[in-house]
Amino acid sequence: EKAQIGVTGLAVMGRNLARNFARHGHTVALHNRSYGRTKELVESYGHEGTFIPSETAEDFVASLERPRRVVIMVKAGKATDAVIDEFAPLLEEGDMLIDAGNAHFADTRRREAALRERGLHFVGTGVSGGEEGALHGPSIMPGGSKESYESLGPLLEDISAKVDGEPCCVHVGPDGAGHFVKMVHNGIEYADMQLIAEAYDLLRSVGGHAPAEIAEIFKGWNEGRLGSYLIEITAEVLKQVDAETGKPFVDIVVDQAEQKGTGRWTVQAALDLGVPVSGIAESVFARALSGDPKVRAAAANLPGPTAAAGAGGGDLQADVEQALFASKIVAYAQGFQQIQAASAEYGWDIDPGQMAKIWRAGCIIRAKFLDFIKQAFDKSPDLPSLLVDEYFLDAVSGAQDAWRRVVATAAQQGIPAPGFASALAYYDGLRAKRLPAALIQGQRDFFGAHTYRRTDREGTFHTMWGADRNEVPA
Ligand code: 6PG
Repeated sequence: EKAQIGVTGLAVMGRNLARNFARHGHTVALHNRSYGRTKELVESYGHEGTFIPSETAEDFVASLERPRRVVIMVKAGKATDAVIDEFAPLLEEGDMLIDAGNAHFADTRRREAALRERGLHFVGTGVSGGEEGALHGPSIMPGGSKESYESLGPLLEDISAKVDGEPCCVHVGPDGAGHFVKMVHNGIEYADMQLIAEAYDLLRSVGGHAPAEIAEIFKGWNEGRLGSYLIEITAEVLKQVDAETGKPFVDIVVDQAEQKGTGRWTVQAALDLGVPVSGIAESVFARALSGDPKVRAAAANLPGPTAAAGAGGGDLQADVEQALFASKIVAYAQGFQQIQAASAEYGWDIDPGQMAKIWRAGCIIRAKFLDFIKQAFDKSPDLPSLLVDEYFLDAVSGAQDAWRRVVATAAQQGIPAPGFASALAYYDGLRAKRLPAALIQGQRDFFGAHTYRRTDREGTFHTMWGADRNEVPA
């Protein structure tokens, strides 16, 4: 008997996809770089269906019926190219290589074109739903040729999630279309998570609710129009109590949200297309801000609002001047930080003070205050943020009450002020002692076992959310 489908790469996602195919009555060929994982899968789950384990790529390929369908489930990037290089020479015309990882759609387009030349179908396929989804029914977004879908589609539809019997799987479009759509799915996922985190933060900081109470609020919301997986798991994460300290779980997680890159890719692609995905972009930047402990530590003493901030009635003209100056400072702080980051990344050794100096005249952004920027970097070339330089700190803290009034007025009057508002949020984000990024880490650990760090000791940890909810070292 030959297998209808094969899976190479048997870490948790690959293993669960293989089990899902087998549970649906398909014979599944198995392969992994090291045989141990293959053996383990058959030992633990062999009773769930029919598996054909192989130690070598050759045996694996030989165990598949034609046209062959080979699902690749390895870490996106170089590993994918290595697997393709290993398998493509063993395959024959009409066979399919299905990349189920989170690949960049441009890589998928490149790989598809190269394999098409060799008579092979390369099917870049988005798979969403984490470990649980892979096992019980993910949402599947295959790209690649129409012809490949005719042969592969029914199998994928079989293992996909269903709504009223309808499979959550459709041929998205040619070459990289599937991975593009999966990428945008993840961008939206980032935005969803950021918005939920902000809602939690407001309920806690302004509303004065404890995490367990907020869990109940989210549970209630989950019954209404906000009903969704992310709201549901947020309630679970918020009600979790750390066994060791008895504190809310969300308080022991380091508040630096990590990312594997799909959200960032979405924003990069949107920039190329000229599409304003500002919500997704803010969520990517919020993670980046949370994950920069050096700048956050330096900015932790930036002043917050004074009691007068909310007391309306400011002089609008004077307020707008202040908001403009403060927001402008934020823009320059961000731009200089980007220059410093690129300089470090590419070894350019750029002197930021010199950049400010040469921008003082001639160029479009020439401005008086570049003198102060120059002075700030001359004083401390490694300044983590312009905002913490004395001159700018004074300027921004002097302006901030007016700045807050302007943003609030704009919101109240329905006037779009995205520049002022996001600059203010950046300022408040940098100076926050604690960000709701910890909740995002909890959500990521819940659905993807992406792990988190603790505030009270070194190491990386995972909570067994699907089982006893105990914590294990990762
Ligand atoms: C999914 C998830 C999945 C994964 C992300 C997490 O759709 O099942 O999006 O693909 O958990 O890679 O992304 P970050 O590590 O970037 O948060």
